[in-house]
Amino acid sequence: MTESASHFITELTLATLSRAPVVREMFPEGASRGTWHIDLAGWGDVMIIAPASANTIAKIACGLADNALTALVLALRCPLLVAPAMDVDMYRHPATRRNLELLEERNVRIIPPEAGELASGLEGEGRLADLQVLLDAIGRAMDVEADLAGKSILVTAGPTYEDIDPVRYLGNRSTGKMGFALAAAAARRGARVTLITGPSSISTPPGVKRVDVRSAEEMFEAVKAAADGLDVAIMAAAVADFTPVEASPHKLKKSPDTKKTVTLQLRRTPDILSWLGKRKRPRVLVGFAVETKDMVDEARRKLREKNADLFVVNNPLEEGSAFAADTNKVTFVTEDEVKEFERQSKDRVADHILDFVARKLEKPENTGTWV
Ligand code: C5P
Repeated sequence: MTESASHFITELTLATLSRAPVVREMFPEGASRGTWHIDLAGWGDVMIIAPASANTIAKIACGLADNALTALVLALRCPLLVAPAMDVDMYRHPATRRNLELLEERNVRIIPPEAGELASGLEGEGRLADLQVLLDAIGRAMDVEADLAGKSILVTAGPTYEDIDPVRYLGNRSTGKMGFALAAAAARRGARVTLITGPSSISTPPGVKRVDVRSAEEMFEAVKAAADGLDVAIMAAAVADFTPVEASPHKLKKSPDTKKTVTLQLRRTPDILSWLGKRKRPRVLVGFAVETKDMVDEARRKLREKNADLFVVNNPLEEGSAFAADTNKVTFVTEDEVKEFERQSKDRVADHILDFVARKLEKPENTGTWV
């Protein structure tokens, strides 16, 4: 507990509920040695600061050790999770944003706060993440097989919305589940993950840097900005192939003399995966395809055209596959191999894809799936 924490709850409450001693003092009375924090730093399997205030976050970003908590963090030898909770303006302040980024760069897992009503009465992000989210993050931090540690991975997810006018858009039924599962699994396995997602209501997985975009063009810009120094890119977004030539600045009206049919003129969007494949190719590049016939031939054509290593194909006509489902029935297509999987959870599919990625990073000359 920090000094500030004891203004919210008492040490006795925490000790009673946790049935454990509470550390508060840097130099506890009666301590036989002045190195308790070194002992404690090596003892834990995982450390979580929940709730973490803007002040504590700033201190650990700077490497200060001026109280028991920050001294412990500086000496820590296990994974650190930080669950911020504060007022929305403090959370959005550029100093706090930067401090959180700094911590992420050092492999601290940030568990983002939720949006809602805050203690101050304001509305916005800043509420401590749900208990179950905290527990899941701790569980994941404890059983990591960090085979992607230090790797930089980009994942695209979700649909794109192509605006027709201020209230209407062209979209698709993608929810982002597959991409978010991939981002979560990659972070769990130690990677530094950037998730670029179209509109999606799924909450950001712990330890993942999320960039929200709307249109294919915006996604392209965000990918370009993130493309340098990538080890891996996995393009799970359902990017619109066409966008209105021009979005109307005003709501399109129907009037009594409107014709029975109207024509919307569309133009091609940039192919983001192809751009990466040709211009900024990471060491491993994975694409997704939705095909309803000639699955393997189509996937292999795309694999070559877009210069990718693996295409993950799903057939939306199969039950429990593709859009919005929690499961997916996929086929892996590489240059040399085709591997068909049973229907399984998107989390399991994500781990199979990352198994492929990890092996490919280790042995770039292999072109098979080896699964
Ligand atoms: O050619 P097709 O659209 O089927 O290719 C699908 C793959 O290409 C997916 O991985 C998707 O994320 C990616 N893609 C893209 N940019 C586009 C269209 C598709 O990155 N404009």
